[in-house]
Amino acid sequence: MDKRVNDQFLEELNARGVSRREFLGFCAAVAASFALPGKAEAEIAKAVATKPKPTLVWLEFQDCCGNTESFLRAGQPSAAEIILDLLSIDYHETVMAAAGHRAEEALKKAVEENKGKFIAVVEGSIPTGAGGAYCTIGGRSALSIANEVCSQAGATIAIGTCASFGGLPAASPNPTGALSVAEAVPGLKNLINLSACPANAENLAALLVYWLTFDRWPDLDRYRRPLFAYGKSIHDNCERRAHFDSGQYVEQWGDPGHRRGYCLFKMGCKGPVTFQNCPNIRWNSGTNWPIGCGHPCLGCAEPNFWDSMAPYYNHLALDKTGAQPNIDKVGFWATLGLGGAFAAHAVAKIAGSKSRVIAESAASTSGKGEEA
Ligand code: SF4
Ligand code: F3S
Repeated sequence: MDKRVNDQFLEELNARGVSRREFLGFCAAVAASFALPGKAEAEIAKAVATKPKPTLVWLEFQDCCGNTESFLRAGQPSAAEIILDLLSIDYHETVMAAAGHRAEEALKKAVEENKGKFIAVVEGSIPTGAGGAYCTIGGRSALSIANEVCSQAGATIAIGTCASFGGLPAASPNPTGALSVAEAVPGLKNLINLSACPANAENLAALLVYWLTFDRWPDLDRYRRPLFAYGKSIHDNCERRAHFDSGQYVEQWGDPGHRRGYCLFKMGCKGPVTFQNCPNIRWNSGTNWPIGCGHPCLGCAEPNFWDSMAPYYNHLALDKTGAQPNIDKVGFWATLGLGGAFAAHAVAKIAGSKSRVIAESAASTSGKGEEA
């Protein structure tokens, strides 16, 4: 690497409170999350330090701003946040200084000058009801803006579950006719979904760094999510997994099992059918994550989780034979053939812990778990 560029880059990081060691640690973590060999770390460091930063346009539609919030986390900036900070973000209406016509001009300029090369990040679902009137910016509907911008982008990243799958706005009965980016702008090339509510900024950073280094996007799953972040279930990597395997479950909030960090399966944990790397990267600079602080995973990275994972505090459907009448609703098991194996295992463990297996439909409308 050109030493001058390297030094200049490291000085820039230093000024933002990130040491060389932290930067290289971040590059090593990115390499590890992609299971790349050792030398990739240096390749990544070189690409981040020397390659021109891509132009990024961030569109925000029908959303709660949670992904922007996740992206901008203020306290204790991590190396990942700094690297995102070094992107050329030419348009982000929530944080940019310009407003009104000047903001619209900035968007137009960024798209025209970087046609086919810029990255569009879309946050929020896209409402189509009432001719798109539920979300308009500068007198134009979200649908029209998304079509115009994303169709000219080199790649589009749908950030968060609303942009990836419709999210809460699309939950039944979907009064605004909300769609995901894939549905609203069909046929997009290089569309990547970074689902979760919100998406983790570390995954966005790793995705962009991978592309910057290797000039291609990583492999995706069937929902167009990068496998490095969504290839394994929460349950696979959960720190409470040993308790699940030993049949040690939280039975009530605040009970001794809860205080000892037992498995939250019976309290409604959807970790076995949710695919994301939360147990590994955690949140707030690795401080903690939902299950780590004693709350079940709600399945926020999965399509239609507002409907398919409810009621949130009911456990997943199981019966003594491992049959899964609602398996299609809760995710990956059916296609991966894991459902029967997981169910049989859970049945044996729960039965072994003297609490009879709960044969309850995930679609139950009773609103309460029921132990038989
Ligand atoms: Fe962790 Fe939930 Fe699996 Fe229990 S059921 S081991 S809390 S992911
Ligand atoms: Fe969401 Fe579950 Fe992770 S609720 S943030 S996928 S632990």
